[in-house]
Amino acid sequence: MQIYKVGGAVRDRLLGKPVTDIDWVVVGATTEEMLAKGYRPVGADFPVFLHPKSGEEYALARTERKSGRGYGGFTFHASPEVTLEEDLIRRDLTINAMAEDDQQNLTDPYHGQRDLEERILRHVSPAFAEDPLRVLRVARFAARYAELGFKVAPETLELMRQLSESGELEALTAERSWKEISRALMEDQPQVFIQVLRDCGALKVLMPEVDALFGVPQPEAHHPEIDSGIHTLSVLEQSALHKQPLTVRWACLLHDLGKGLTPEAEWPRHIAHEHKGLTLIKAVNERFKAPKDCQELALLVGQYHTHGHRALELKASTLLELLQSFDVYRRPQRFEEFIVACEMDARGRKGLEQRSYPQADYLRGAANVARGVAVQPLLEKGFKGLELGEALKRERLKALKAYKESAAS
Ligand code: CTP
Repeated sequence: MQIYKVGGAVRDRLLGKPVTDIDWVVVGATTEEMLAKGYRPVGADFPVFLHPKSGEEYALARTERKSGRGYGGFTFHASPEVTLEEDLIRRDLTINAMAEDDQQNLTDPYHGQRDLEERILRHVSPAFAEDPLRVLRVARFAARYAELGFKVAPETLELMRQLSESGELEALTAERSWKEISRALMEDQPQVFIQVLRDCGALKVLMPEVDALFGVPQPEAHHPEIDSGIHTLSVLEQSALHKQPLTVRWACLLHDLGKGLTPEAEWPRHIAHEHKGLTLIKAVNERFKAPKDCQELALLVGQYHTHGHRALELKASTLLELLQSFDVYRRPQRFEEFIVACEMDARGRKGLEQRSYPQADYLRGAANVARGVAVQPLLEKGFKGLELGEALKRERLKALKAYKESAAS
């Protein structure tokens, strides 16, 4: 048997990037031989094994044939006769279809090295279509390597378009899609991921609510970029520039979905878009089974981002309601994430990327003031249960009024 390093490990070494995990392909071996050498099988039907010591993945060279729709529809054909070239041709991109032996000799039948040099993300063969998840993968690689100047080859974009139109994307499971989406959002240029999905028509299928924002105008005075879709991409870009966590990036992507529902006659204004967007945010959250913290923050940012921008003008009672809605007493981190999402929203506007956002510190201060109201004196006065809750609210309101006055003076 011959063993080769394949995929991302070869690609990233040639790019001079750190290699995190290594995948191996084994040519000329049977399952029985692998088991005899102590490799552990990953699953019953999968010709993939884990190395007994390193735990790295070793896959038997295989060809894939599709027997049905979606991911469950794969059958694998692995046998000692399958050659390295036959294995590589079924992979997604030429830059991922190179193999290296233990002497670092490169096997590159599909010109991955040339495409690396020319900064092109190009599919290897029509077998690309065997796995529709690759549409998301290519968009993710485009986001990851955008800073190096990589672009999707026109013929690959065309194939991605055909796959998007074919209905195959609908068959992807929420788990597989979310894994790609969440990884893509954590790249340095996540807006490129969304842009590439849009360019090939996949965004319309995966997140029609986000796609619908493109072509929808906003008032130029607040949004010099005008287009709601462009604004969303810029907010996402800002969230990555400021190294925000996934929760914030997800909330940034979904914060303005309500603008896609505004009747044209009302353009460029978007009355109550915050509230209107909530059902859409919920739908996207559920479609991808996003983790609970992402779901929660997206809904809260969707509902309250305008409150964030108007923080300094809010009445003390409205400020208190905002703080209560976020449960800032038990969930301080979530409120902080809301604040930064609002800040990204304010900066994701053409020419306003460097603006200051005094609302952020004002909101932090307000949360501290509300949290600073002590319960003990109220307990000592004999308040209990609901009455205690009401008394606490009154005290917090009083403190917020004083805070607002001192901030204004
Ligand atoms: N692969 C593929 N199609 C997929 C998934 C994986 O062709 N849907 C192939 C590619 O050759 C890829 C390799 O399997 O390089 C390993 O896949 P994976 O570990 O998911 O990705 P990497 O390319 O290693 O990239 P990353 O750095 O994002 O992990």
